[in-house]
Amino acid sequence: MNLVRSFLGAALLTAGYLPAAAQARHEYLLTTNWKFTKGDVADAANPGFNDAKWQTVSVPHDWAIYGPFSPQNDLQTVKIEQNNEKEAKTKAGRTGGLPFIGTGWYRRQLQVPGFGAGQRAVLVFDGAMSDAHVFVNGREMGAWPYGYNSFAVDITEAVKPTGDNVLAVRLQNLPEQSRWYPGAGLYRNVHLIVTNEVHIPVWGTYLTTPTITPEYAKVKLRTKVATPGNAFQPLRLETDIRDAGGKVLATVSTPLTATDGQEFEQNLVVPQPRLWSPETPVLYAATSRLYAGEVLKDEFTTPFGIRSFSIEAGKGFVLNGEPRKFKGVCNHHDLGPLGAAINVAALRRQLTLLKDLGCDAIRTSHNMPAPELVQLCDEMGFLLMVESFDEWKTPKVKNGYSRLFDAWAEKDLVNMVHRDRNHPSVIMWSIGNEVPDQWAPGGSKLAKRLQDIVHREDPTRPVTAGMDQFDAAVNNGFAAVLDVPGFNYKPHRYPEAQAKLPQGFLLGSETASTVSSRGVYKFPVEKAKDKRYPDNQSSSYDLEASNWSQTPDEEFAAQDELAYTLGEFVWTGFDYLGEPWPYDESWPSHSSYFGILDLAGLPKDRFYLYRARWNPTQPTLHLLPHWTWPGREGQTTPVFAYTNYPSAELFVNGVSQGRQTKGPSSQPQTRYRLMWNEVKYQPGSIKVVAYDDAGKAVAEEEVRTAGQPHHIRLLPDHTTLTADGQDLAYVTARVEDAQGNLCPEATNQLQFKVKGAGRFRAVANGDATSLELFHEPRMHAFRGLLVATVQATDTPGALQLTAASKGLKSATVQLTAQAKPVK
Ligand code: GAL
Repeated sequence: MNLVRSFLGAALLTAGYLPAAAQARHEYLLTTNWKFTKGDVADAANPGFNDAKWQTVSVPHDWAIYGPFSPQNDLQTVKIEQNNEKEAKTKAGRTGGLPFIGTGWYRRQLQVPGFGAGQRAVLVFDGAMSDAHVFVNGREMGAWPYGYNSFAVDITEAVKPTGDNVLAVRLQNLPEQSRWYPGAGLYRNVHLIVTNEVHIPVWGTYLTTPTITPEYAKVKLRTKVATPGNAFQPLRLETDIRDAGGKVLATVSTPLTATDGQEFEQNLVVPQPRLWSPETPVLYAATSRLYAGEVLKDEFTTPFGIRSFSIEAGKGFVLNGEPRKFKGVCNHHDLGPLGAAINVAALRRQLTLLKDLGCDAIRTSHNMPAPELVQLCDEMGFLLMVESFDEWKTPKVKNGYSRLFDAWAEKDLVNMVHRDRNHPSVIMWSIGNEVPDQWAPGGSKLAKRLQDIVHREDPTRPVTAGMDQFDAAVNNGFAAVLDVPGFNYKPHRYPEAQAKLPQGFLLGSETASTVSSRGVYKFPVEKAKDKRYPDNQSSSYDLEASNWSQTPDEEFAAQDELAYTLGEFVWTGFDYLGEPWPYDESWPSHSSYFGILDLAGLPKDRFYLYRARWNPTQPTLHLLPHWTWPGREGQTTPVFAYTNYPSAELFVNGVSQGRQTKGPSSQPQTRYRLMWNEVKYQPGSIKVVAYDDAGKAVAEEEVRTAGQPHHIRLLPDHTTLTADGQDLAYVTARVEDAQGNLCPEATNQLQFKVKGAGRFRAVANGDATSLELFHEPRMHAFRGLLVATVQATDTPGALQLTAASKGLKSATVQLTAQAKPVK
């Protein structure tokens, strides 16, 4: 589509050793030919160590996602204060029930082509879980304990110019280091960057757009220049700015006399700038070339966008002059059945689903995201709150970040900001989530210190934190320190916060935590807190929340009524591994119930409640529950419609059940949903007819009673993949009756086979209690559905996915893997 996609593409293309486009800088992705073993090995860092017996893996790699699940994996006995628990209880599945604890080693040959005197080699780890120690040829060259952060290791001194070098990485995860599934291993990309001695270092550019008018935008680019020993003087930095089509819009050439590490400022002007927003994600790129005399020493491109925003009392959040509220979701970093192992196609699919939802913002709860997510948010148009920590000095879990806080918090914040501060999608930094230091002595001072560090590194964006301890934080000064006070689950207290705090606005930094299992409906239909059922599922009527949280409608009402609210970040966009509340004491639950979409990425009913509110460009008319209830004949079976039409009439087997209209009411539910609470079940069909504001019937939706499971239907999200060894197709498998109705209770086990230019990667059904392994090509349908993931190989060609099941007519879908575009 545009420049960033091609930058991203370029990064991904370099899976092997391709000739780099620029002469001066060579970047390689270290994906293939890694050796891996679990467990500690005394001399694994030693270059002569024989790793032939280790497993061959490709990176990104999550060693724990292959299971098996067990309640013994990281069994935690804890009292969760944030959940208002009064005593310690034993929680299985809190971190996903997967075997992520322990030590793991990765080893790889490291060829550094043409490496010699006057060059530098740096490794960049996008994230390594966790406590990484990096060795080259047996020498430890760097370490980084926090598993979510990116870090660079200069390995120049250890690299041999001739022959192979050996890279070894030791990682270690501890029990009780997390409140959710953290993943394990080199779960994000590892880059090797080879430059001249004189070069622009990692994250060495900082680009801002201090003035934006319709006629022009001023671009200020600060570039760091490394000149070890202050050699090669004078230098010259030439920068040009191009639009997405590659047209040069501005150039500047600056002579430099640099001392090592000095930063230089260049100012350029882009005429008639096209502004970046979620709806118009227009990107530009600044390419800087560093010369010594006429010799090109380095070349580096900084993608960027031009947009202005402010958050002000009385105005709220204003982007490019237009007030708007965040339609946001919080997301964890895992990708469901892929675990924590990053994959661009998987992220792109998540963002595509969130676009359809009408979501425009993401909070990377509660840690630094993969860089690919940030790039995709630039490209596809999402506002990002990049978050750093889930705890500071005071622990929430025994072996969490508090152990690292004193020594590492500043370094972690600096890396976070330096890596992501050029991205137009990033509009806010979060220094923490529900940190117990909110009420600990000195908490406000800590908040100020962390916020000051972030301001020092990036004065252009506000800082927030998600607060849960309302009384403490509002009364002790903590909330007053923050640029943007963020409240988790406090819509009923927004007026009080607004009255007491100086900022004049506030954010729903975490909202709802409504729980539901896709396709599961419980009777009687009742609003409830902490509701548990014997089957470890939650009802999809969307009326069940946690003791600390609310149904979506309660937050909607607060946001609609209170002008000073900045919008919300719903907990969560997607279900994630771990934190199976309200069943965290009740194995086999091991993944969350909070998602708007389930762990397989299938929309729950709630998806349409948010879509009706958030996506004004598409009609939404969604009916629930399903209508196949043998044994419920004559019993009360409420029917809800989630729609952006103002009113609708429901029919059961053609008989009207009356017309409902949304509108102001003391009950938030009737304000945002259409509900027919007294419907009696009879097999047949339910149908809604929606009316527009003028009372005209404009749309209808029907759900029919299904017969016996008859066949499988496969629905791929797209049929053409890129043959890059990474691309994915997500294929939804439906168990249908002979007429093509979804069989909403079907649990048939499906077997998958992939033939041709692809391989089976994973399958998920969204059932938080399922112990079937994601990487095995078989799984039971959950409520009639599951999603298989197929991965392209490096070879272009046709591929087929077949799904079969005893007693069902099987199905095959044809896909094509196309050669990756030549650069
Ligand atoms: C919040 C917390 C989240 C998640 C959520 C579940 O208190 O910030 O990480 O635990 O509760 O409702």
